[in-house]
Amino acid sequence: MLAVRRVPFRRLTPQPSSCLSTRHSYSTFLASPVLAATRRETFALRIGQHSQVLQWHQVVQIRGAKRQVEVDLDDLPQGAIDNGLERLPAQDDEDHEYPPLLQEVRNNMLKFSHCVVLTRVGGFYELYFHHADEYAPLLNIKKTKRKAVRGSKRPAVPMAGFPAYQLDRYLKILVQDLNKHVAISDEFLNDAVSKAKGEPAYTRRVSRIVTPGTLIDEHFMDPWENNYLLSIHVDSEVLGKGGAVKESPGTQSVSSMLNFPRTEVGLAWIDLSSGDFLTQSTDIASLPSAVARIKPREIVLDSIFQEKEHLRMVSILQEDGHVITFQDPLEQPLTISDWVPMLADVVEDFDAANFSAGEVAAGGSLLHYVKHQLLGSTTRLQAPIRHQAEDHMSIDKNSLRALEIRTTIRDNNHEGSLLHALKKTVTKSGTRLLTQRLSAPSMSLSTINDRLDLVEEMVDYPQLRQDVIALLGQTFDSLRIVTKFTVGRGDADDLMELSKTIFTTSEIVHVLRDHSTSRKSILIDPENATVELRRRNCLPSLEKRFELMKPLELAQRIQEAIDEEGLSEFHRIENDEAAEMVDAAQDVLGREAGEEDLKALPKKLQPKPHMLAPSVKGATDGRDDVWIMRRSASKKLKQLHEILDSLTEEKTHLEQQLRLKFCAQSLTLKWTPNLAHIAHVKGKDVARVAAHYPKSLSSSKTTRSFQIPEWTQLGARLDETRYRIRNEEQRVLGELREEVIQNLVKIRRNAAVLDELDVACTFAILAIDNHFIRPILNAGTAHNIVGGRHPVVEAGLADGGRKFAPNDCLLGDDERIWLITGPNMAGKSTYLRQNALISILAQTGSFVPASYAEIGLVDKVFSRVGSADNLYQEQSTFMIEMLETAHILKEATPRSFVIMDEVGRGTTPEDGIAVGYACLHYLYHVNQCRTLFATHFHALTDLTKGFEKLGCYCNDVAEEPDGKFSYVHRLRKGVNRQSHALKVARVAGLPEGVVAIAAEILQQLKPASATH
Ligand SMILES: Nc1ncnc2c1ncn2[C@@H]1O[C@H](COP(=O)(O)OP(=O)(O)OP(=O)(O)O)[C@@H](O)[C@H]1O
Ligand SMILES: [Mg+2]
Repeated sequence: MLAVRRVPFRRLTPQPSSCLSTRHSYSTFLASPVLAATRRETFALRIGQHSQVLQWHQVVQIRGAKRQVEVDLDDLPQGAIDNGLERLPAQDDEDHEYPPLLQEVRNNMLKFSHCVVLTRVGGFYELYFHHADEYAPLLNIKKTKRKAVRGSKRPAVPMAGFPAYQLDRYLKILVQDLNKHVAISDEFLNDAVSKAKGEPAYTRRVSRIVTPGTLIDEHFMDPWENNYLLSIHVDSEVLGKGGAVKESPGTQSVSSMLNFPRTEVGLAWIDLSSGDFLTQSTDIASLPSAVARIKPREIVLDSIFQEKEHLRMVSILQEDGHVITFQDPLEQPLTISDWVPMLADVVEDFDAANFSAGEVAAGGSLLHYVKHQLLGSTTRLQAPIRHQAEDHMSIDKNSLRALEIRTTIRDNNHEGSLLHALKKTVTKSGTRLLTQRLSAPSMSLSTINDRLDLVEEMVDYPQLRQDVIALLGQTFDSLRIVTKFTVGRGDADDLMELSKTIFTTSEIVHVLRDHSTSRKSILIDPENATVELRRRNCLPSLEKRFELMKPLELAQRIQEAIDEEGLSEFHRIENDEAAEMVDAAQDVLGREAGEEDLKALPKKLQPKPHMLAPSVKGATDGRDDVWIMRRSASKKLKQLHEILDSLTEEKTHLEQQLRLKFCAQSLTLKWTPNLAHIAHVKGKDVARVAAHYPKSLSSSKTTRSFQIPEWTQLGARLDETRYRIRNEEQRVLGELREEVIQNLVKIRRNAAVLDELDVACTFAILAIDNHFIRPILNAGTAHNIVGGRHPVVEAGLADGGRKFAPNDCLLGDDERIWLITGPNMAGKSTYLRQNALISILAQTGSFVPASYAEIGLVDKVFSRVGSADNLYQEQSTFMIEMLETAHILKEATPRSFVIMDEVGRGTTPEDGIAVGYACLHYLYHVNQCRTLFATHFHALTDLTKGFEKLGCYCNDVAEEPDGKFSYVHRLRKGVNRQSHALKVARVAGLPEGVVAIAAEILQQLKPASATH
């Protein structure tokens, strides 16, 4: 059964309720029951005369029928919803409103209807109403019911919850695994004035919406990968026209960006966790590859793309499993000047004129979206960087997959991928840089050479390398840490990590400087002067990019302010409390947990709501004082600690006085959560003190507690001082946070240089461990690789004690295409891929697995290898093959590098040969790019005889008289018309009978197949 969900009314900017307009229509798209996996959630809003329409629909999967339900405004809850504090009228409520908590939850659920609402109640986050029904089973938490009003006949409200400190764990399930949008409603303490007016003690307000693309510092984020949110801007009118004209004949479902009219596409993407902000202008045909390279966690698209004529574009993006959120366009799109407030305020090198209209539009919609997910809290992004397609080698979507650059083709595993083989980085952000570089290698000879110089320096000077690696290992992910400060998070631990990283950075600078100085003292060999001078300059130019003066002052200040021992003691206590909470939590939730139930918890288990301002009570928790700041952190702190010291002395003095006065040696002055300030005595002393204070507060057989006015007064002064110390600590912390923000740009720049060092050291280690050599890159269009190897296959073979046979690849003016034949399992596919990978590695700035490599810059790498059926998208094996081939033939330039593995194998041999030949013909005459083409259609070698610049190469099987055989992986010039498929079949375990029949049939077919 389908439930019709009402679409709530929401406004984004606080405005007087009078400007709510009265003519609206809303739409909810509902999943077809048959395709239950399909779900769209939507909400819309329009405000006043400056009506903005905002609509966020989260699409988890598309496909499936779409049904539209129109809901009239009058049917919708309206009214005061501007700042989250006012109430919506209760729904379905004949007699009463809900009590405050439930009403607040209800309001938030209506207001953020596209989200799962998590409401903080004391030490718990809770789900209510249908959210509890829906998500408790998915989160594997216990669902219970709670009476809305005691004694009411109304049905109890479903609820479920988990302890607040487990928020990350459950957010991970909701956001990361289920791709949900989650609205987090936190508790805020109301001030005394509102409480006096009868307002409740707390207000709950949604402080943030968490979506897959807007993670900031959640622990479940992958530290090794960027968490990008991407916005795509395409002119829908241009696309719409194309959709009608370019419908593929025969079938309408085939989707390829190539069928759309060429138009500019603006891209803008950010990583909120690191502040990275990038833009790119591309065209529609390259869109899937650009998106595959960026690998966003969430894509924001204009809601116009939900309309029928655009669904094809959306489905192309979704084929790759992208999560898409639709957003209605703003009537007044953001201009580039609107970006500035969201950028770090010290941005100097941001030139607005550089961005294309598409990029500005994409950036505007992206920032608009982010702003509303953060609900007013600010973010300071890095100045946007333009990704210029011409500055980077483009690795198309299929090549990223086929060459297994980030994941393996078969099961999408990281292990077995190129990145996995290369990942010797010691820092997380270094790994992120490595991934970025591998996905978009450089096209600039000077950039590549600079990177290679650095790698070579690290290869040649092991001590330098080891020192840098050891120091990098002591740094923290400062890019992600500083971002926490920009969104008002960031605690004392983050400050400590930051300051340690700054100090370590300064040590790294010393290491680099010492190295440069010692290098200078050696005379330069005049024969190599140019190369040597460039090499010697690589470290000083890197070193110059560090900006350490101000950050070091900050680091020093942090070290002087924060008491690390106090901080770790503080964590120890926190951990103990958390452990106690775990035990209590399930117990509490087993009952009808709510505010009342929490109050019933044993006092020491009552959670301290972290959102609440520090209170006097919080300062006197009965424990020894644990301070996270040194007393020297501020003048005031010093004074307050002196006061506290003298009060503590006074306490000791008073204790002694009282002991003497009552002759009670066991008397101690204490504070307990239940009784506050008490004097505690035991044994015979009980009677003596009782004579003076007949009214005891508590007693047992042998002990008794009394209230003593002097101690109560002194205790109050102690409490107040502690409270003031905590406040002062918070103030100093705030100051330090502000200083971090002041240093934001410098810290980020330093982090970027550290990442470059990390990547250089990684490539150096790889080069040494795997015998890679420095490639020579030039502006030509030839490949001259001698003794090339496949970095991943070689490593795999080495694990099993086997050797990889190296092969040359000499493509260029003499032979632009190599047509490769040979037995199954002889290494054709491996050879094709290894040469593409060598080019990618070289332009990434890495040494390469070969004994010599001189390579002309490659602008685009294309691969057509293996077949992945996509029957769900109504694409057959051959259709996929042709879609990918079409893409290559349309896009490859004379500077590109193409590998084609068995094109045409998905159909009859005749059709396959025909298509294969036509492709070769086109690549040879039109694209004129470097191509490696492997095939089992031997006829192709005959058909292409007239192609002067096409060379035929093959590998072999070596057979021994006793029937044993081995593969000769080494390529030789010529054609091998033997595929030896049955040998592979036998090794694979095909029943002998089957192999025998196959051999017989093969014999009969031979004359016919000789031409193939
Ligand atoms: N140069 C080499 N040296 C050593 N072993 C190799 C080499 N190239 C490939 N191999 C081994 O041979 C296996 C098969 O290689 P590959 O898949 O490239 O063969 P193929 O010729 O493409 O076969 P098919 O025609 O069946 O597609 C690889 O998994 C690897 O273990
Ligand atoms: Mg193969």
